[in-house]
Amino acid sequence: MQEEEPTCPAGSSLSQNSERQNPALIDEPTCPAGSSLSQNSERQNPSLEDIMVTRSSMPPYEVFIKAIKPLWDSHWLTNMGKYHQELEKRLEAYLCVPRVSLMVNGHMALELAIQAFHFPEGSEVITTPFTFVSTTHAIIRNHLRPVFCDVKYSNGTMDPDRIEELITDKTVAILPVHVYGYPCDTESIRRVAEKYRLKVIYDAAHAFGVKYKGAGIGSYGDASIFSFHATKVYNTIEGGAVACSDSLYEKMYDLKNFGIRDEEHVASIGANAKMNEFSAIMGLCNLEYLEEELRLRGEIDRIYREEFHGLVEKGLLTLFSIPEETKRNYAYFPVLFQNEAVRDRVCGKLRKQGIYPRKYFYPITADQECFGNAYQDASLACARELSSRVLTLPIYASLKKEQLIRVINAVKAELMAVQSQ
Ligand SMILES: Cc1ncc(COP(=O)(O)O)c(C=O)c1O
Repeated sequence: MQEEEPTCPAGSSLSQNSERQNPALIDEPTCPAGSSLSQNSERQNPSLEDIMVTRSSMPPYEVFIKAIKPLWDSHWLTNMGKYHQELEKRLEAYLCVPRVSLMVNGHMALELAIQAFHFPEGSEVITTPFTFVSTTHAIIRNHLRPVFCDVKYSNGTMDPDRIEELITDKTVAILPVHVYGYPCDTESIRRVAEKYRLKVIYDAAHAFGVKYKGAGIGSYGDASIFSFHATKVYNTIEGGAVACSDSLYEKMYDLKNFGIRDEEHVASIGANAKMNEFSAIMGLCNLEYLEEELRLRGEIDRIYREEFHGLVEKGLLTLFSIPEETKRNYAYFPVLFQNEAVRDRVCGKLRKQGIYPRKYFYPITADQECFGNAYQDASLACARELSSRVLTLPIYASLKKEQLIRVINAVKAELMAVQSQ
């Protein structure tokens, strides 16, 4: 019998014919000349020497080209086509959730997931300010009021002990974020939500592939959203999804497709937030390399921890603590410096050396200028403290060992200089 062409595991219609070309910790140059990695940095055209905070993972070129050939021939580019449907099924299995509704991006996934609950205008949603501004925008754009809850110092997730004091007769939901992919205290949040009959919508934009207490992270709460933006652990170029129940899936379908049920029947007033077929194919391709992606990221995370051990012992650097029973995705490598001045000094020094970490998340969303001073008085001491001291360091699968060492040495050198002054 002839040997079969290698096919993708777990039943994908896509086959792979070469290895992913971005293994970490190897020596070949991996950044194509002239490529623009500007999506996550202020630098528009970083040089090959520059080290950005992240770098998009892509399947080998030939794999993607082969995968899009049938699509090219079919001319069926969107409208919940074959690849959209296939990716939904594959992600339901991978994320261990009942249903997955694919969206054009994570923000629309969140905005529409909130909309699906039909909360009365002006209702209050208890949320975290230690996040990307999308979380807060999604609430306000639904004509709801964000009520900011402080976070835990240990890992920046919502502090469940602070939720109850914020509940009023207008509270309808809790919207926590698994920030950096670190699981929230889902059990305590569930208890408060049940006591006050609140919905729980998780922003799991950072948490693709995370498991907590043996369950897929998207299986907690009434709904969870994921981002598949190019800078995330798993990307569909732009994209996102809502993980939800069967009944919510139907609502999400209407909301992302103008409320159209069939050619002559528009059941509700929906938006247009469908994922297109090119993105879905990118997602199917990237899924094949995900385990390797996570392994390589895990190795970088391990080296950072090993190398920074001495600084942590001396109290010069603090790492976030990861809840027990977490299967991680190593989406970010956030570190805390002693204070804002030291953080900014290290950040500035790294930039001068062509290393571009990010102050995720600074300032906290509640203090962003677009909201005026509306939330200035909110009691958010811990979130503000973390935000003033945090820096996320470069982590991505194709980060080479010498690049990683450059980052580590630069941080160490600057902290030693601070200490000796
Ligand atoms: C916490 C959080 N929520 C929501 C989003 C929005 O996702 P997207 O960029 O896919 O729209 C992001 C994006 O980075 C995010 O970090």
